[in-house]
Amino acid sequence: MNRELAKSFNTEKDIYQEAEERLVFWEQQAASLDWFKKWDTVLEWNPPYAKWFNGGKINASYNCLDRHLKGTRKDKVALIFEGEPGDSITYTYSELHNEVCKFANVLKDLGVKKGEVVTIYMPMIPEAIIAMLACARIGAPHSVVFGGFSSMALADRIRDAGSKILITADGAHRRGKIIPLKNNADLAVQDTGLVEKTVVVKRTGTEVAMIEGRDYWYHDLMKKVPTDCPAEEMDAEDILFILYTSGTTGKPKGVVHTTGGYLTGVSTTHKYIFDLQEEDIYWCTADIGWITGHSYLVYGPLANGATVLVYEGTPDYPEKDRYWEIVEKYKVTIFYTAPTAIRMFMKWGTTYLEQRDLSSLRLLGTVGEPINPEAWQWYFKHVGKERCPIVDTWWQTETGMIMVTPLPGISELKPGSCTLPFPGTKVEILNRAGDPVQEGEVGYVAITEPWPAMLRNVYGDDKRYKDTYWSQWDGKYYYAGDSAKKDKDGHFWIIGRVDDVINVSGHRIGTAEIESALVEHPAVAEAACIGKTHQLKGQAITAFVTLREGILKSEELIIELKNHIAAKIGAIAKPDELYLTDELPKTRSGKIIRRLLKDIAEGRAIGDTTTLADSSALEALQGLAKN
Ligand code: PRX
Repeated sequence: MNRELAKSFNTEKDIYQEAEERLVFWEQQAASLDWFKKWDTVLEWNPPYAKWFNGGKINASYNCLDRHLKGTRKDKVALIFEGEPGDSITYTYSELHNEVCKFANVLKDLGVKKGEVVTIYMPMIPEAIIAMLACARIGAPHSVVFGGFSSMALADRIRDAGSKILITADGAHRRGKIIPLKNNADLAVQDTGLVEKTVVVKRTGTEVAMIEGRDYWYHDLMKKVPTDCPAEEMDAEDILFILYTSGTTGKPKGVVHTTGGYLTGVSTTHKYIFDLQEEDIYWCTADIGWITGHSYLVYGPLANGATVLVYEGTPDYPEKDRYWEIVEKYKVTIFYTAPTAIRMFMKWGTTYLEQRDLSSLRLLGTVGEPINPEAWQWYFKHVGKERCPIVDTWWQTETGMIMVTPLPGISELKPGSCTLPFPGTKVEILNRAGDPVQEGEVGYVAITEPWPAMLRNVYGDDKRYKDTYWSQWDGKYYYAGDSAKKDKDGHFWIIGRVDDVINVSGHRIGTAEIESALVEHPAVAEAACIGKTHQLKGQAITAFVTLREGILKSEELIIELKNHIAAKIGAIAKPDELYLTDELPKTRSGKIIRRLLKDIAEGRAIGDTTTLADSSALEALQGLAKN
């Protein structure tokens, strides 16, 4: 559908065919970036290790800023910031360049060296982006930790990265309240004993404790430094950033992305998929704490010289029309958000949209989870007014860039399908043996050829890199952890995760992470978590917990355990439902059968129980979940 409608949007003709010669295609794309030195080879592939544009010298911050200063983009707006309380500020490319250079000098003065990981724990404010680009400028990999994570989650990530510098803010605005980011940061700093210096942005004006010689105000430091800071010449394969994501064990993985290939991947996909034009006002609603914030709020769009809108708050504050107010105010043309947000807007009804002028919009996007056709149609009709194509983009923290997506003006759009692999990439749906599945058959998403923005490793854990992503098909293909099927046109329909990862509102949370947080509570003997279908969030967390001998079940304990998880990980990991039970369904060898727990939570017929050691556990649980 909508093939005609979308046609005017993209002038590129047969990009799929052009990109058949993959390496030639990617080399051409890389050439549109600014390199200090050209690469020796496009790809060196020693499975599962890739080197893209090896021998090349490049800087991501230079490509996002300096190269735009040579022409008319110098005075073009790079960032439009809208704060939750309604304050706003814009930065031209030249102004942003100044700020980034200054902060890069601040980091150098604080002793940050090339290769040292800097942790960023910040709200969605321009200084967060300035900090990322300043790190990139001096060659210090950043590790951005989502501001909604708890102090303990932050501490884990600081420890794993061995970070000595932390950049944070006094607080963050959230639905009219203030989140005490600096307090959380202080707890993490104490806990790890690693951090030597923190830089604090004054955002909310909240009273915070500043420790002499350790904590510095951003605005004080920025007064003392020059605006000139040459960008470090980085090897294409030097680390640009680490981003932690949940996996199937209790410990989050630091996904490693490098510089040249990543930048090539994100700038190319951003340009083609969002059909970027010079005058666009581009808004991606993702937080910088997630990969979408890295690739399509910062590096992709800024490398392309786009005007990027950054919004600090939530869609419902002060009113449920806040997003549409922003679209109207800044005449946003491209809008990229998550299905969970769309389902929420659907629930709120169309009144909020109708009272705002959305005529500036011309292209819509979604990411993070499968979009149900009903939500797609609603988005198309009520937000895009049946004029705007929707790009449903499938990708992951690990892929760094969008991998499966329609191209506006070229692809046939199908509600619920992310359609085809991006030109120059090879994504397949395979069975366990590694053979492509037939039309309509469910299989596993695999990436069968290396791609430029692919992860290079798991930080400090090579074994985990190999085991998690490359062991499924003997090191030949990348295993994404998703199931999917293809329709008669070869279009992809993603079903969801097949590992023990729950996708809550488009955010990945490992069941093992929640379970290990639970068993750290003194009352808990054992815990198992599953994702239960949820109308708005896609999936919601349901936890089943057995208590230690002598501990009594109570409603208070349930609340305490839920809060315990929020404190350990963050509010996004708090289970919607938590059941205290005497036993969990297990196999004779003692393995918890999560599949049965899922059946119970969903209220559906219980599947195969032949492997169950003791069926009485199941009966008791069914009774619990019904109440
Ligand atoms: O299950 C897929 C789902 O999100 C997972 C990746 O999560 P994360 O690394 O946090 O990155 C999210 C933003 C890129 C995938 O394994 N997912 C992402 N996009 C889609 C999707 N599922 C279906 N359709 C999508 N468009």
